[in-house]
Order: sequence, then structure tokens, then C-alpha cells
Amino acid sequence: MTPRKEKILIFDTTLRDGEQSPGFTMNPEEKVRFARQLEKLHVDIIEAGFPVASEGDFISVRQIARALTHAQVAALARTDRGDIDRAWKAIKDAAKPRIHTFISTSDIHIKHLLHMTRKQVLTRACEAVRHAWEYTRNVEFSAQDATRTDRKFLCEVVEAVIECGATTVNIPDTVGYTTPDEYGELIAFLVSEVKNIGNAVIAVHCHDDLGMAVANSLSALKNGARQVECTINGIGERAGNASLEEIVMALETRKDVLGFETGIRTRQLYPTSKLLTDITGIPVQPNKAIVGANAFAHESGIHQAGLARDRMTYEIMKPESVGIADSHIVLGKHSGRHAIREKLKKMGFDLSKDEIDTVFRRFKVIADIKKEIFDDDLVTIVTEDIFRAPEKYKLLYLSVTCGNVAIPTATVKMEIDGKPVQDANFGVGPVDATYTTIRKLTKTGHRLLKYQVNAVTEGIDALGVVSVQIKYNDRIVAGRGADPDVIVASAKAYINALNRVESLKTFAGAKSSTGA
Ligand code: KIV
Ligand code: ZN
Repeated sequence: MTPRKEKILIFDTTLRDGEQSPGFTMNPEEKVRFARQLEKLHVDIIEAGFPVASEGDFISVRQIARALTHAQVAALARTDRGDIDRAWKAIKDAAKPRIHTFISTSDIHIKHLLHMTRKQVLTRACEAVRHAWEYTRNVEFSAQDATRTDRKFLCEVVEAVIECGATTVNIPDTVGYTTPDEYGELIAFLVSEVKNIGNAVIAVHCHDDLGMAVANSLSALKNGARQVECTINGIGERAGNASLEEIVMALETRKDVLGFETGIRTRQLYPTSKLLTDITGIPVQPNKAIVGANAFAHESGIHQAGLARDRMTYEIMKPESVGIADSHIVLGKHSGRHAIREKLKKMGFDLSKDEIDTVFRRFKVIADIKKEIFDDDLVTIVTEDIFRAPEKYKLLYLSVTCGNVAIPTATVKMEIDGKPVQDANFGVGPVDATYTTIRKLTKTGHRLLKYQVNAVTEGIDALGVVSVQIKYNDRIVAGRGADPDVIVASAKAYINALNRVESLKTFAGAKSSTGA
């Protein structure tokens, strides 16, 4: 029997560090849906948000805390008492709550951001941990900018916070500055120099500014860290955080040299990545490791010949092991409701009878236009028709004239707060004419930052998916729409973004600047 490997705790911060980066804004309902998927993935700790940052963050964290049953739910807080009180209020109903408090420890942050002395930082860190400890024994402390912190001072802080009750100490590479050898050596140094280090789990949290976040994290694990903080698709501040799927699959595929295991259900990696893309409308680059469209595609003849003889010639992981199944033809226009329900169940969608009816109606419309319906088409239908932001604005009718001798014109009929309205306008092209008309009808003027069209599957009759981003105050809000007709998909995407702005407004808008 092979001996059990040591377990690495996976701490997902997609909903906190990831969501705070431009374009990845989610509303509370979307966050809860994503958190449930993280639980299905078997993540150990889910950082649900930063409750003091905004009312929306507080509500999302509280809803996540109440919705999950086995993952630990962490809430971030600065060292201020008010932050910690607010964090606790948001997570107190969780099955396993965790308060995560942080303060910067590097001289450059202490001087220019905090305007404090090292001594004051040390005192604040201890007071915060002690205060958090009054609420829960599950307290994490992060020494922000640890990799640029004086080592002696870092040891002092780590030892003191453990003494005050921190059960996890995080050593973040906040600015993505370190290298694998240097970071591994820093962790080894803490293990050897901090007297009480055995009373806490060492966590690592790496940003990807120099493209080394995953390598740095793995090096830290080799040197004594046992919790790794990461995000799905590697989203996060600036160049992002270490990617969860890459760390997990590196640990899994190279168990032989790394010698660890995780509790992650790797077959849920791709569905989780896809859900994030569907919610935010931001796709991963095709060559992204593990979850990119080309991650398992073999183009060259030599590679294909090798694979035909033995998959191991060029494939180090099986696509199925990360949940990428061949996209088979699901069904055609004669398929029944039962077959669709079964297929959706297999794909992990547990829908109610009403929801199945909605999917089935939409399936029939699309199957009339498109001969073959693939798995990805069904996922798109579910995303579009079931998991939608509440709709203040609805598209009822769209007719567009365009061509090389026509002036592009769009006639749009919408329902706004239940009332029908209509208008028609010209534009430089059919999408511009449509968007101008929607803007006039909705009396909105958000700047369009991004417009992108993709096909869900192969083939000329594929569903078109349009992703847009619009600016709302200081936030970037995404929208998505799918339809066999790309102009209709464009209208749906824009209206979806407007509806998502409305749902954000309900949760008291902009975040305050909190320095995380
Ligand atoms: O990058 C960082 O230092 C952080 C902390 C708040 C953990 O995100
Ligand atoms: Zn971070």
C-alpha cells in the first residue's frame, strides 16, 4: 500500500482577491452560486469577501456563510476592530467560520501606506488577532507584503500573532516580486526561526506579476507551508493570483516529486472554471494550462500520430481528470424533456421542474434552427435562461436592417419594469444601431469598454455568445448573451449588463478603498 501523502489545504480567494480585480464584479446571487460550486470542488476554505468594503460584500459573505455546509468560510478584515466585528457578523452563521485579518509589515508599506512604526504594526496585529479570537478560534493573520519585509521583523510578527491565537499565518507575496528559491528559503527560515511555528499552519499567497505565482507557491509547500491561497483561472489583482487549477494539477500529476495530496475533486475543475467565465463573461486565454481551449488539443501531425499509438506520448494528464469531456452531440429536435433532464443531471445541474421546462422550451427553439445540440449549448442555455440577474429590462423584439447599401437601422421593443416601450435608430453598424436604441429606451449612457463575439461550438450554425463590459461608476460590469443570431446575442448581452448594474445598485454600489 502506498503511504498517505501529507494534505495541502486549498484556500480559494476567487470571490475576494479575484472579484476585486477590474471586470470580475459579481452580484450576491452569482457569488453564492459560485461558492456552491467551490464547495462541490471540495475547496477547504472559501474566502467569501471583505465585508467592510461595501454593503454588497457584506450581504454576499453572509449569504455564502449561510448557504455552505462543509467548507470553511473566511471573511477578510483589516486590523481595525470595526472591520473584525463586521467580518464576524457576516460569517457567524457559517458551519466553519474563519476571520482573516491582515496588516502590511514591509517598511515601504508601513511608512507610505500606514504612516506607522514597526512597533505600532506589531501591536495592531496582536490586538486584531486577540479581538478576532474572542469570536472564533479559527483566525488567520496575513503579513501583507511579507516578501519585502525585513526577515527579523517578520519573525517577530509571526511569533507574536501565533502567541495571540492565530492558527494560520499567511506570508503573502503581495506584489508578485519573489522567486521560487527565495520564497522557499523564506518559508524554511520561518520554520526554523519562529519558536511557536508548530502551533499554526503556514499559508502562502502569491501574485503573478512576474509569472511565477504557481512556482513560488509550490516551492513554499516544499519548504513547510501547508495552505495555499489561489483563485480559479488565476484571476486577481493586476496579473492575478496563483491559479488553483494549476497548483492542484501540479500536485496531483507530480505527486512523485512533490509528495502531497489535496482534497480537491479534480473533475470539477473545468466546470468551475467555466462557471466563472459564464458569470463574468471573461474567457480564459486558449493556451491557459489545464482549462484553456487548447490545453488538451494536439495540432501537429507527429503529436497526433503519437497519441494514436499511446496517449502517454504527449499527454501528461487525461482531459477527463479535470472534467473536460468530449463534446458529444446531445440531442436533436425530437428529443424529449426526460432526456434533457437526465443529461443536465449528468452535467451537474440539479434543476427544478419549472427550470427544466424553461430550458426545454429554449432547447426546442434552438433545435429548430440548429440540427445538433452539444453539451456546451445546453450549458449556455442554462446560464442564459436560468441563472440570470433579476430583469428590470427585457428584450421583446429586435429587427435590424443592414448591408453594404443600407443605413444600419434597429427597431427595438423592450419591457422596462413590466411596461412595453419601443424605438428605432440608425448607427454605424447593426450593433451600434441596436445599442443606441437600447441606450435611449433605458435612458442609460454607460461607456462600452469591451465587445466580443465567440461561437459556443464548432460549425456555421453554432450559437453566438457575445460578451460585453460596461463602466458603472468605478466598476466594470460584464454582460453575456447567446443566440444563433449574433445581433440578437449582442442586444441580450448589453441588456444583461444593464440588469447586472441594476442588481449592483440594490447592494449599495461602489466599494470603499480598503487596501487589500
Ligand atoms: O496580496 C495580499 O497580500 C492580500 C492579503 C490581503 C492577504 O491579498
Ligand atoms: Zn492578494
